[in-house]
Amino acid sequence: MRSDVRILVIDDEEDHARAMAECLEKVGYQCIAATEGKEGLRVIKRGGIDVVVTDLVMKDVDGMEVLEAVRERLPDAQVIFITGHGTVEAAVAAMQKGATTFIQKPINIHQLRVEVDEAVRKQVLMRSNPQRVTQVEEGCGSQGIIGNSTKMQRIFSITRQIAPTSATALIIGESGTGKELIARAIHYNSPRKAQPFVVINSAAIPEGLLESELFGHERGAFTGAFSQRKGKFEHAHRGTLFLDEIGDMPLSTQAKLLRVIEDGKVVRVGSNEPFSVDVRIIAATNQDLEALIREGRFREDLYFRLNVVCLKLPPLRERQEDKSLLIDAFVKEYSRVYGKKITSITPEARRRLLNYSWPGNVRELKNCIESMVVLTSDSTIGVEDIPGHIALEEGQEEKGALVGMSIAEMEKELIKNTLAAVGGNRGASAKILGIGERTLYRKLDQYGLK
Ligand SMILES: Nc1ncnc2c1ncn2[C@@H]1O[C@H](COP(=O)(O)OP(=O)(O)OP(=O)(O)O)[C@@H](O)[C@H]1O
Ligand SMILES: [Mg+2]
Repeated sequence: MRSDVRILVIDDEEDHARAMAECLEKVGYQCIAATEGKEGLRVIKRGGIDVVVTDLVMKDVDGMEVLEAVRERLPDAQVIFITGHGTVEAAVAAMQKGATTFIQKPINIHQLRVEVDEAVRKQVLMRSNPQRVTQVEEGCGSQGIIGNSTKMQRIFSITRQIAPTSATALIIGESGTGKELIARAIHYNSPRKAQPFVVINSAAIPEGLLESELFGHERGAFTGAFSQRKGKFEHAHRGTLFLDEIGDMPLSTQAKLLRVIEDGKVVRVGSNEPFSVDVRIIAATNQDLEALIREGRFREDLYFRLNVVCLKLPPLRERQEDKSLLIDAFVKEYSRVYGKKITSITPEARRRLLNYSWPGNVRELKNCIESMVVLTSDSTIGVEDIPGHIALEEGQEEKGALVGMSIAEMEKELIKNTLAAVGGNRGASAKILGIGERTLYRKLDQYGLK
């Protein structure tokens, strides 16, 4: 497959051009190395190139000129820029003009290969999809998605790339990382935006009802089916169907879903009449689907069908630079919602919020800010407004001090401190501890904390 792909590498540093071409050839691509910008432009004019990897700053030709030539001569080709220090802004500008991505020097061979593989995948996608629109006007910003970290910028870039197509997408990420938000961004930046965005959550619907929810049913199809009912697929016709918590879908339903995806036809429960639907599918999960496949709980063929484009949302703890942005945005939002005039956060309060690990990701941060805005009595948010368990995480440096304690002792301490932090509220404590309330009661009893 790779041997059908032709890659042009342009870099006026001859050694770099050759090294990159060689490393791509080693994994099977056909490569042409151009050691001058002008030479690169000539190759582009001749055509037949799938991916162009080019230096952004060269002596004779500007990388942007290369991009323009590609857009003119090779509309489907993908362009990857190589950038040096201090040229990231130029690279971002290039991305806005339609470059696929950029790689920063010094070049890491593994990264180069990964980016080229990804570009090839996108190119195949673009080609196979006649519905594509060349550029999405609105960015993700219009959906209120915040993120300045490189990881999130990459997500936005992929979102923009795939939005205009009808490609199926799989969004993976821990709870609260913004999976649904991204799914909506894809839909509302697509030509389907005037049609419905329909959500179905496999984890929230009892197994017996899921199929009728998805595909609809005929009158009398089962006990309780008093009238004919449309399924989510029909509701999403010409729009987008968001299959949330796909990892929780029962195997039998997975098999039926696969059929629908493969032939674009739905059969209502209790009927034999298939009819066509035009639905774009976006699936999401916080589970490790590959592990589920190994355990026989998820169909591998369905996984491949869904995983055409995969977006992996990073947990909030891996994007420190986004935390502050999110904090400020949520403070502003909730101040408006609750009609409060909050003008600042004290540096100490901000430090604590930034230090906390946010296991519940953006959702947890958002909820926390909401409650602080509601509860604060003046125009400044201070440490005293931060929920106890979040301020508590400060004790991290003292972890060494725990050595010498048994697990039971630690558990007892943890429960005691958590209860104290939330003013003895058992429901809240159980939630923070990640256990059921009943389990908490049992442990309170066990440790004599009642
Ligand atoms: N990057 C972001 N910018 C602004 N708001 C965000 C961002 N990411 C998430 N949120 C907000 O956080 C909340 C949780 O996001 P969302 O529902 O999309 O998460 P999720 O990944 O689907 O979570 P779950 O797996 O629990 O369903 C929402 O209120 C969403 O608006
Ligand atoms: Mg969700």
